[in-house]
Formats: sequence, structure tokens, C-alpha cells
Amino acid sequence: MFLGIPAIAGRDNESIITNGVPWFDSDGNIINAHGACIIEDGGKYWLFGEYKSDNSNAFPGFGCYSSSDLVNWKFERVVLPVQKDGILGPDRVGERVKVMRCPKTGEYIMLMHADNLKYTDPHIGIAVCDSINGDYRLLGTIEYDGKPIKNWDMGTFQDDDGTGYLLIHHGPVYRLSDDYRSISAKAAHIDGMGESPAMFRKNGIYFMLTSNLTSWERNDNYYFTATSIEGPWEKRGLFCPEGSLTHNSQCTFVFTLTRNGEKIPIYMGDRWSYPRQASAATYVWLPMQVNGTSLSIPEYWSSWNINGIRKQTLSGETKIHDWTSDKKGEKLRIPFHGKRISIIGESNSQSGYALVSIKDKEGKILHSQYVDFYSKVPDLSPRYVSRLYPEDDYMLEVEVSGENPVWSDKKGNVFGSKDFFINVSKSIIEK
Ligand code: DGJ
Repeated sequence: MFLGIPAIAGRDNESIITNGVPWFDSDGNIINAHGACIIEDGGKYWLFGEYKSDNSNAFPGFGCYSSSDLVNWKFERVVLPVQKDGILGPDRVGERVKVMRCPKTGEYIMLMHADNLKYTDPHIGIAVCDSINGDYRLLGTIEYDGKPIKNWDMGTFQDDDGTGYLLIHHGPVYRLSDDYRSISAKAAHIDGMGESPAMFRKNGIYFMLTSNLTSWERNDNYYFTATSIEGPWEKRGLFCPEGSLTHNSQCTFVFTLTRNGEKIPIYMGDRWSYPRQASAATYVWLPMQVNGTSLSIPEYWSSWNINGIRKQTLSGETKIHDWTSDKKGEKLRIPFHGKRISIIGESNSQSGYALVSIKDKEGKILHSQYVDFYSKVPDLSPRYVSRLYPEDDYMLEVEVSGENPVWSDKKGNVFGSKDFFINVSKSIIEK
């Protein structure tokens, strides 16, 4: 389906998106953009997301990155920091930031979910800016019928005619006014919707993606279609294999990539990792296949090439380790000579956080972070792909941290791992 798209020149591994591993920006820092969206503007791609912390779920700001290829990202800045007070003041929640450029005014409009830490004071906030990566000014909450919208998960959609929409969990779809600063009407209510709404349009069909309600845990997301935003909307079922828990992710946005005149919807999902969201929560981006009203991501591509839109495995010298431990402090040490190292391991419901670090030949720590090995459904895939270093001798250490992702939802249901296991089956070294 995606064959026939010629590759653009460039080193192969520099064009690969590897899902479920931390990504690094051009400064070597972890890309911190959760509940994200991408817009194309001024010849670049812009990624906006929650600039999470590892220590608390309190709003730490929304970040912005730019890229010319969707793989290599430059950190621009935190475009909306914690406010002095109000809906995004200290000890509040800010999630699912979405940005659109209003075609009529040229202004950039940012919409988001704002809440208290218990998620009992939800609002949809609005911020604006004259430049895409400037300081966004929080205007307040967006209202419908004279009242603030007291809902949490949200998304946005910009139709081909420039009309903007605000999508709300469990059904409402609001049409924005011409200046995108307010709501002009309720366009639809999609019965049967869940959380994390994400919409796109292809060949005259509107697709709406949504997740079930399982806190930070993944579930089998599903979708609806319609030939008009107003509906009728028809529930179509799952778009990933049943039981894969949406390839272990929760939808947040669909970015339509235009390549050689073809429009390719790219699924963007979150693989949350509570409580270490900043370092250990990762992203799952995959091209979606559309055939009429049928939508699917039939296979999980742990790595794929953005140029050819094709599955691609990581290449390099492969070493087998078959190392497993759940004893806090136990370490696997992998000395290597090269530019980059990747580790492949199993994640499952007994897995915990690893502390992964890279040291230079003098023993100086160049990088250290938590890596999440937990997943409800077992999966053998890359868990860590280092940034590119100058070719040299290095040591990779994988340590059992003795911590695991465990959390509870508003009702007190407990989710997450039952043990602290880390498994490294092999490593791949790129020269
Ligand atoms: C699931 C939602 O989809 C997320 O946006 C977030 O609010 C978490 N729940 C919090 O538990």
C-alpha cells in the first residue's frame, strides 16, 4: 500500500522512527512531548506536547520542537510555562495540548485540558500566539452556551476548508468560530466515544479514533467514520489487532503526511509510564492504512523508515545477552566500540524500570535515564536506542532499579507491574 514512495537521500538509520524507546533531540536530550500533535507550517513540522516531569503529574509546561523530516527534532522552547495562578497555575494538570493556525487571522491557537491534580476540575483552556514557537498567552477557558466546557480529554481537527473543531471525550464535537477563539456550534455528538479523541479525513471520509477509559494503561482503541462531521457516525471497531492494546499505546493525534501527492495518515500514540513520564513514557507513531471506511495498522513496526514508509529493522553488529534479573542493583555491562547502541528486550506485566547509562572510556557518565520495561501484553522489541555519539569506546550499563510503574485511578483501581524484571536479549552496535 505504501510501496512506490521513493526514498530521500540520507543515512538510513537517521530516517528511522523507532517506537517505544526514548527519542533524543538535536541537543541529546529526551524528547518530552506527550499527548502531542504535529502541524506543518512554514516548510517545517512542529511537534507540541506535554513537557512532563519524572517526579509529579503537575503541569510543567507545554514544549515545542521543530523538524524537517519528522525524525530529527530540535527543541524550540517551552511555549506555555506554568502560570502564576489560574487553570494552569502551580499544582495543576495540563494535558493533550493541540495547536492549529487559524487561516482567517493567521494566529496560532493552542487548546488543552487543564485540571486539578485529582482530575475533578476539568476545563478546556485556550492560549494564542502570533508566531508558532513564541510565548503563548493563556486567554482562559473556552465556553459553550455561556458555560465552560467541564471535560478532560480533548483533541482538535482542522478540515480541508479551514474550519477548526474541538473534539471532546465521550462524544461532543464543537465547531470553532472563524477566529478559532470561541465555539460557534456543537457540530455532532458521537455516541459510544471514549477518551483521547483524534480525527482525520481521507478521501472524503472522516475518521474519529478513541480509547477506552483505563487511566494510563493501554487498551484496544477503536474508531468511527462519517461522510460529514455532523454525522451520522458509525462505529467501525478496532484499528489494531485485538489484544495488542493499540500496539501498546493510546491515540493522541493523526498527522496527515503528504508525500509525492499521496496523503498518509500517521497515527500518533502515547505509551504512558507513570510515574516516570518525562524519561520513560514513549511514543508510537505508525502509518495507517485506509481503504474506504476501513482503517488499520495491521502490524506493529517497532522501527520504520519515514522516507519509504516501510518497516525496517535496526542494523549493526548484534550481540546476544539473554540477561534477566529483578534484583535491585544488578547490572548488565556491555562495552562497545561504535556510535550508537540499541538494546532489545522483553517487556511484560512483571517488568520494572531499568536505569540505563552510557559511560565514556574514562568512566564518565554521558547519559543516564529510566527505561520502562513494563507492558501488560508481552513484547520483544527495542527498549533503548542511544543518541549518536562520536565513534569511540563506551560502556552501556543496564541496572535493575527496583522500581516499577504502578498507579491507581480515581476509583482506586490499581494498575501496573507486579515485579521489577529487566530483560536484555540482545544489543545492536552501530559503527
Ligand atoms: C487517560 C487520559 O486519556 C489521559 O489524558 C490522562 O488524563 C490519564 N487518563 C490520567 O489518568
